[in-house]
Amino acid sequence: MRKDVDINKAAQIIKQGGLVAFPTETVYGLGADATNAQAVARIFVEKERPSFDPLIVHIASMEQIHSLTTTKDNRVTELAKKFWPGPLTIVLPKSDLVPDVVTSGLPTVGIRMPDNEIALNLIEKSGKPIAAPSANKFGRISPTTANHVKKQLKDIDYILDGGPCKVGIESTVISLNPDGFVILREGFITFKDLEQVLPASKTKTSSAPLASPGLLKSHYSPEKPIYISDNQDFKSIRKILDSIEPTKKAAFISFTGIVHEGFSKTEFLSTKADLKEAAVNLFDILHRLEEDPNVDIIIAEPVPGDGIAKAIMDKLTKASFRYNN
Ligand code: TXA
Ligand code: MG
Repeated sequence: MRKDVDINKAAQIIKQGGLVAFPTETVYGLGADATNAQAVARIFVEKERPSFDPLIVHIASMEQIHSLTTTKDNRVTELAKKFWPGPLTIVLPKSDLVPDVVTSGLPTVGIRMPDNEIALNLIEKSGKPIAAPSANKFGRISPTTANHVKKQLKDIDYILDGGPCKVGIESTVISLNPDGFVILREGFITFKDLEQVLPASKTKTSSAPLASPGLLKSHYSPEKPIYISDNQDFKSIRKILDSIEPTKKAAFISFTGIVHEGFSKTEFLSTKADLKEAAVNLFDILHRLEEDPNVDIIIAEPVPGDGIAKAIMDKLTKASFRYNN
């Protein structure tokens, strides 16, 4: 079947104040014209997202950034040269063109240039910067395919189907202090990648009044209990399995390729602890296990380490938070 990728139609919808889900290299976004407050307000309604959680604005050219921010900081150009288009969001002082609803009333706006042809074409053809959070219901699993979007968001105007996302986890969000960068959300671009361009700020906190309001403890959550196992203590897996009713079926998410007895199913983030592969597979596996009638609970192998590992672990920890607290 041909995929639904009518970019002209999608651009028209954006211009008219509608909502379009579109692929990026990280996850699918739910987009609206970032300069149209009413259109952006509908994103919050469709996502059931609290109004205190600001949106990222997506651009296709460096000219667009000048209209969205008041900053003249040269470091933005340096970062853009190295990482854009790509999975890095930079939080900058906002201009008057950006309505308050986009930034949840903050004086700053998060901006990024996605590394995806369809996304860049959509922004160019609509002639608008596009505000877009991930295209999932608030707190639920992020979408990395058009079908994931359809499952959660029933009432949007169009979905551009660009196939599976090639990165699979969200962008790294940073802000800039006078002495360097601060990471507000871990993502695909790592601390080490960023340090090649800028020093890390010595004060670990952001100069922004509220560091990153959207970084809640519970997020990315499947509608089934999920736990992270302890790799030092495999008995902990046994204990969880023993504690569930015998009729219930558990699935294991393996990262290193390890397989355990007693699970009805094993899904592999990776078979060889490959972090990029794990990032691509993470949300798709969570969606599949959520949908699988033969799975009642999920246990995930931990993903230790820095960089992308930290981002993946952050997502697993947030997914399991409501079942562990
Ligand atoms: O990869 C991504 O970043 C995807 C794709 C669609 O671009 N988008 C995404 O958006 O993950 P969302 O809304 O699910 O997450 C955006 C995060 C939130 O945690 C929010 O708090 C933070 O970025 N953020 C946005 N604007 C901010 C600002 N002005 N100050 C601090 N944090 C901000
Ligand atoms: Mg999100």
